[in-house]
Amino acid sequence: MIAIIGGSGLYDIDGLQNAEWVTVETPWGAPSDQILTGTLDGVKMAFLPRHGRGHVHSPTEVPYRANIDALKRLGVTDVFSISACGSFREEMAPGDFVIVDQFIDRTFAREKSFFGTGCVAHVSVAHPTCERLSDAAETAARDAGINVHRGGTYLCMEGPQFSSMAESKMYRSWGCDVIGMTNMPEAKLAREAELCYASIAMVTDFDSWHPDHGAVEITDIIATLTGNSQNGRALVQRLPALLGQTRAACPHGCDRALEHAIMTAPEK
Ligand code: ADE
Repeated sequence: MIAIIGGSGLYDIDGLQNAEWVTVETPWGAPSDQILTGTLDGVKMAFLPRHGRGHVHSPTEVPYRANIDALKRLGVTDVFSISACGSFREEMAPGDFVIVDQFIDRTFAREKSFFGTGCVAHVSVAHPTCERLSDAAETAARDAGINVHRGGTYLCMEGPQFSSMAESKMYRSWGCDVIGMTNMPEAKLAREAELCYASIAMVTDFDSWHPDHGAVEITDIIATLTGNSQNGRALVQRLPALLGQTRAACPHGCDRALEHAIMTAPEK
């Protein structure tokens, strides 16, 4: 089953057959919202609005563990994260999409692991995204006529305020390409849950480093997102046909991440 975690501006999937909002409970509490399930091109799909319908959870408040756990319980194997981001690169302009492949996690007020207190595990997130899903996302974006960049480092900040100019320039000097508030710990948790994860970041602004652009304003971000939401929707429409109806083992091992990661001895 393919899941889409939709960010600001994306709150459902077009053309879903047998569409139904389902309630999923988890030991980590309630997910951001009910999950929209159905089929697209014969492939089972799930859609979760990250901030909830009506945009009620701030990036800090998003229940990341419950979200990933709920998707896993539904039978999801492949997760596409869609989110808005600021850009640190002249060539990654508002309206462009970036298929992110690395993260720097600067968040500090979120639960980041399913493990601890009784069961300790250390998974690798050296390569935090799945190449197979990223390939599909890139192809879907190109087919939809979107200006897409393959690969990029995403700085995840706590928010909810945007960065100061000094911070923005520092992240740029670190080699970051884009900035957002939501992909961490989402990507780390997906790996712990042995789910394949790809991140599609939609550029809405130049953050605050750019000498020719003023400070980031949420009204500008929303205007860019609204202009862009058709592109996000068109990309999603192409994913099921690209991935096919059967889910094979992940060639990169995302679905076996825990094989050598658990430290705690099993109970006798
Ligand atoms: N989301 C969209 N633009 C952003 C920015 N500049 N910083 C953090 N999150 C964002």
